[in-house]
Amino acid sequence: MSRCLNYQLLSLALLLLMTVDPSSQSRSTEENGVKSAVFLSPKIVLEPGSVSNKFYYNIDFPKGHIAIKNFDAEVVDEAGNSVPLHETYLHHWVVVRYYRQKGVEVAKYHGNLGFHQSDFIVKRNSGICDGGLTQYFGLGSETRKTITYVPDPYGIEVGNPAEVPPGYEERWLLNVHAIDTRGAEDRLGCTECRCDLYNVTKDEYDRNIEPDYVGGLRCCYDETRCRVKEGFQGARRSLYLKYTVKYIDWDPSIVPVKIYILDVTDTWKKPDKSTPTVSRHHCKIEYLVESCSAAEANADCTHTKKISVTFPSGGDVIYGVAHQHTGGTGSALHGEDGRVICSSLPIYGEGKEPGNEAGYIVGMSSCYPRPGSIKISEGETVTLISNYSSAQRHTGVMGLFYLLVAEPSPTPNSFLHSTDGTGEIVILHNAVGVLAVFGIALLVGAAVIYQRRNQREEEGYESVLM
Ligand SMILES: *[C@@H]1O[C@H](CO)[C@@H](O)[C@H](O)[C@H]1NC(C)=O
Ligand SMILES: *[C@@H]1O[C@H](CO)[C@@H](O)[C@H](O)[C@H]1NC(C)=O
Repeated sequence: MSRCLNYQLLSLALLLLMTVDPSSQSRSTEENGVKSAVFLSPKIVLEPGSVSNKFYYNIDFPKGHIAIKNFDAEVVDEAGNSVPLHETYLHHWVVVRYYRQKGVEVAKYHGNLGFHQSDFIVKRNSGICDGGLTQYFGLGSETRKTITYVPDPYGIEVGNPAEVPPGYEERWLLNVHAIDTRGAEDRLGCTECRCDLYNVTKDEYDRNIEPDYVGGLRCCYDETRCRVKEGFQGARRSLYLKYTVKYIDWDPSIVPVKIYILDVTDTWKKPDKSTPTVSRHHCKIEYLVESCSAAEANADCTHTKKISVTFPSGGDVIYGVAHQHTGGTGSALHGEDGRVICSSLPIYGEGKEPGNEAGYIVGMSSCYPRPGSIKISEGETVTLISNYSSAQRHTGVMGLFYLLVAEPSPTPNSFLHSTDGTGEIVILHNAVGVLAVFGIALLVGAAVIYQRRNQREEEGYESVLM
C-alpha cells in the first residue's frame, strides 16, 4: 500500500508542476511512469444568458492500452484563466467511450448522434441505467474540488485493442453543458433551467413542454437563452473545457475497476408476484424538489429521495462519489444490511474566486474505502438516498452515485490479499511506509548534521544547533 502513498505524493508533485504554466495548449509530462496529458475541448462560444450543450466527437485523448488514474477538468478562457461558476455555470460535462467504424469520417462537432448506429457503438460503463448515463467520466459544478484519483493497484482500463470490434477503432466524445449567467436576472433560476426564464414552450425536439414541467434540461438545451437584466452588456467570449488525464501504460499487475452510475430517479422495481415482468432501469436523470409547505416551515425542510436496486455484479468498492446540484445536502449508498457503502457530501463555496464560488456546490466528498473492507455482493439490493434542502423549490436537480468496483480476482494478488480480513495490516503497511520515509529523512538529517558538526569541529566553530 505504500504505492498508494507514493501515488498521493506523486499527484501532489504533478499538481505543483501543473500550476507552473496554466496557459499552454496541450502538454504531456511523465513522473514515475504516471503520464499526465492536458487537453482543451473545442471552443465553446457564450454570451450573457446563452447556453451551449454540444457533443464533441473524437476528442483528444491519450493513445494506447492504458489505465486511467485521474480525470480532472475545468472551464478556462482563451488566456487559460479559470472561469468562475457565477459567470459560466458548468451544468455538466461527460466523457463517453465509443467505437467508430474505420474510414467513416464524422465531423468533430455536431449534435447528439444517438447511439448504436452501425458505424458508431457506445462502449458504455457497467451500468446500471438502460439508456443514458453511459459515460466513463463526468461531473458538474463540483468539478474543481472533487477528488477523482483511482488508487493503486487499480485503474480504469481503456484502449485495449482486443476489446475493439474488427473494423472499428476506439474514440472518445465529450458533451459539455454550460450556461453563461453573467447579468442573469435570476442566476439560480438559470442554472436550474427554469422554463419561464428561458421562455420556451417546446423542447429541443419540438415537443410541447407540459405545464407541470417547471424546469430542467428540456428547457435549457443548446442555443437557448436565459433572461438577462435589462441593458446588461457582456462580451461574447470563447471558453474551453480544459481536461487533465493521468494514466499509466497497461500492465497485468493493474487491477481493473468497473464503473457504475446509479440514479435516484431510476424507476426500476424489484420484480415480485404482482409485477413479475422484468423491470427496466429507466433513469430520468432529473427531478423536482418542491419547497416544504408553509405548515412545515419550522420543520427541518429536507427532501429525501430514495431508491433500491439490485447490483448486477459484486466486488470491492474502491471509490464512490455522488453528484448533486445546488440545494443538495448529501447522498449515501447503503447495502442490504443497512451498512453505509459510501456517503458523499457537498462542499459549498464561500467566496468569489474559481473553485470557491458562494452558493454553488464546488466539490463533493468522495469515498476511498480500505480495499476489501466494503464489498457489494452480486445481486445485493442497495439503497441510494439523495437529500436536498426544500427551504425553496429546486428544479432539474440530480442524484447520481458514481462507483468504481473491482471484481474479486480469481487469483488474488498480494495487494488484494493484504487487505482482506480486518484490514489492520493495511494501516500497518501505511504506518510502516510513513515511518520508513520519516526514518530515512531522520537518518539523512542526522547524517548531514553529524557531517556538519564534524566539519565545524574540524574548522573550530561552535555548534549552534543541538
Ligand atoms: C418569448 O417567446 C415568444 C415567442 O415564443 C416571444 O414572442 C416573446 O417575445 C418572448 N419573450 C421574451 C421576453 O423574450
Ligand atoms: C438524509 O436525510 C435523512 C432525513 O433527514 C437523514 O436521516 C439522513 O441521515 C440524511 N442522509 C444524508 C446522507 O445526508
